[in-house]
Amino acid sequence: MPAATSPDRLVLRRPDDWHVHLRDGDMLAAVARHTAWPFARAITMPNLVPPITTVEAARGYRERILAAVPAGLDFEPLMTAYLTDEIDPEEIARGHAEGVFTACKLYPAGATTNSASGVTDIRRLDRVLERMQSIGMPLLVHGEVVDHDIDIFDREAVFIERILAPTLARFPGLKVVFEHITTCEAVDFVRAADARVAATITAHHLEFNRNALLVGGIRPHHYCLPVAKREHHRQALRAAATSGNPKFFLGTDTAPHGIAEKESACGCAGIFSAPVALESYAKTFEEEGALDRLEGFASEYGPRFYGLPLNTGTVTLQRQSWTVPDTLEAGSVRIRPFHAGGALAWRLQDARASEDTEPR
Ligand code: NCD
Ligand code: ZN
Repeated sequence: MPAATSPDRLVLRRPDDWHVHLRDGDMLAAVARHTAWPFARAITMPNLVPPITTVEAARGYRERILAAVPAGLDFEPLMTAYLTDEIDPEEIARGHAEGVFTACKLYPAGATTNSASGVTDIRRLDRVLERMQSIGMPLLVHGEVVDHDIDIFDREAVFIERILAPTLARFPGLKVVFEHITTCEAVDFVRAADARVAATITAHHLEFNRNALLVGGIRPHHYCLPVAKREHHRQALRAAATSGNPKFFLGTDTAPHGIAEKESACGCAGIFSAPVALESYAKTFEEEGALDRLEGFASEYGPRFYGLPLNTGTVTLQRQSWTVPDTLEAGSVRIRPFHAGGALAWRLQDARASEDTEPR
């Protein structure tokens, strides 16, 4: 479907988000609507406490997500299994065969939020990866090494060399999504790899570099993992996302944490971008003169990679300046969204409401 582009209105095939953290309990209740409104499907991350490692746990979580989505929104959570050193390949394969698990997520142990039960050595996954390769189940990787002698800004590039490239060579049929890439090394690697390798790119890594964390004071709301890198990396990400290359597609990595957990002596990693996600991507694509390529990135390349049908509905972005709220509050939950207090030029319209109804 060609995007109906005019200076003031952008109609896109309904997009999907290929990387989200929806959390659980009160937080899930507060954030689910922000993903389920624009996005028809989302790959939901399994890093709950405890993590989702069984088919039964994934079924239960899927039910809780669906219960948290407001009536009238058509949304399908796509579940993932959290890989551990001990996970049983049979459990993974059964979940895949029963339509519960779409993919598996590799967190190197200790790499990020709730990754304590993650994988300590990729070689321990040989049987699991073998099985995933044979059933065509994608592996989603948090691509950072955790060795203490590796500088945090180098952890993604070193992961490619030490883990990703050798693993792809050992499993030549394994499909891999390199999640939330942040470096020109990752862009180059994915571009050069064969068609079974793709990458997601977040809105925030397209918008700021590492200065946003440190200039003028410590900015905990810009802290996420992988951490933002230097400007030339951001430029490489922008070029990749807007290039029309189907190996790069939308994955927000929206990762809400309460304000107190972010503004702390040991603040949590994660940016809550869901409420501004599509608008933020539109900002980048417009700045790059590539609005006509937003639809491929947001709505087409992801489903093609995962072998899923394209969505049939549409969403409309209107050129309409609006101010992003400072905080979002729901019950006991207080979260600060990406772009809090800032202005955005594009605004998602609610297809179910009249033109002038405030959608959120
Ligand atoms: C994520 C989270 O909070 O769960 N945090 C983040 O900074 N992106 C975990 C992750 O994807 O690394
Ligand atoms: Zn994530």
